[in-house]
Amino acid sequence: MIVGVPKEIKTGEFRVGMTPAGASEFVARGHRVLVERGAGEGSAFSDQDYRDAGAELIATPAEVFERAELLIKVKEPQPVEIDRLRPGQILFTYLHLAPDRPQIEGLMRARAVCIGYETVERADHSLPLLAPMSKVAGRMATQVGAVYLEKSSGGRGVLLGGVPGVLPAKVVVLGGGVVGTHAASIAVGMGADVTILDTDLDRLSYLDEIWGSRLHTLYSSRHNIVRIVTEADLIIGAVLLPGAKAPWLVTREMLPTMKKGAVIVDVSVDQGGCVETTRPTTHADPVFFVEGVLHYGVSNMPGAVPITSTLALTNATLSYALAIADKGWRQAVMDDEALAKGVNLLDGQITSKPVADAHGLAYQPLAEMIGA
Ligand SMILES: NC(=O)c1ccc[n+]([C@@H]2O[C@H](COP(=O)([O-])OP(=O)(O)OC[C@H]3O[C@@H](n4cnc5c(N)ncnc54)[C@H](O)[C@@H]3O)[C@@H](O)[C@H]2O)c1
Repeated sequence: MIVGVPKEIKTGEFRVGMTPAGASEFVARGHRVLVERGAGEGSAFSDQDYRDAGAELIATPAEVFERAELLIKVKEPQPVEIDRLRPGQILFTYLHLAPDRPQIEGLMRARAVCIGYETVERADHSLPLLAPMSKVAGRMATQVGAVYLEKSSGGRGVLLGGVPGVLPAKVVVLGGGVVGTHAASIAVGMGADVTILDTDLDRLSYLDEIWGSRLHTLYSSRHNIVRIVTEADLIIGAVLLPGAKAPWLVTREMLPTMKKGAVIVDVSVDQGGCVETTRPTTHADPVFFVEGVLHYGVSNMPGAVPITSTLALTNATLSYALAIADKGWRQAVMDDEALAKGVNLLDGQITSKPVADAHGLAYQPLAEMIGA
């Protein structure tokens, strides 16, 4: 199969969909790998590294899109990239379609096979291709939250861990999945007073078992959220309903009850955010204030640490990408239910129910379309 790796063009994005080590795996199995010149630069991979791995270096993104049968990317296709897709071409990347009407309309027109990393889901509901970036974003969330709590960054002016004789900052983590757990682990490590909320009691029990009294767990009810946001210095939004729009747990009317200069890092922003007043921002212009509360809504947080993130992402995506290239997408999804859940669109039809529901559009089960 001809596999294409374009350079990412989203603002502040320096990751790349395939490493030279990954390229050599494809080449060893008889596939051709086309890499756009400079695609790996932001992740510290040179064109020569890809050449040495057996890839062909391509001068323009247009040529990569034109020649590749399988495109491997990181972020959702930007409008100019959607225009370059062709019917039947396979796109393997993060899509995050629930909050993105223009993208879904563009991909319906493109009629490509769109496989979204974030909805590849195992039988135990774990998300193997979202998890590596969630670990990065979760750990970063506390790190950026700590910086924005500094007065010079616009925050309240509190030190996350306090000092002897002065209480630490209060960190509230909404959602105790991968992002939430990694955010909490850094916050606990920095000495903050951390409370993590979830609706999944088994998850809260698990967190309680690993952290004991170093972290508080709280059931995520509206009643509890209304109360706890008033005490928070830093709120980290880490909720996910796979494929669907995130529920608004912190509403606009709660903001005036919060401390002035408190910070919200809404990591769930890529699924619409779990804070009503969140909107997507970029690394170039990451924050804004509503009612005196600082909001950080960068939707590609791991893009800021591309060397770590590219390795973590491609460690997880490689085996799925190889299966698609070796067997063809149809056989690969028939052999692997987790990968089948990643197919968001096929031939212009939406094959992910949560995505279709999020937009009030028709859902077409994948199994019916491929006769599985
Ligand atoms: N902004 C970024 O750069 C970035 C990077 C990585 C991941 N993310 C996003 O972060 C979000 C979280 O991802 P994850 O991997 O941790 O997901 P996850 O599935 O591991 O965890 C989500 C958690 O939310 C909980 N939850 C669901 N409804 C809830 C509610 N009403 N109240 C409290 N908790 C609730 C679930 O029980 C689950 O434990 C996703 O939207 C993901 O796309 C964003």
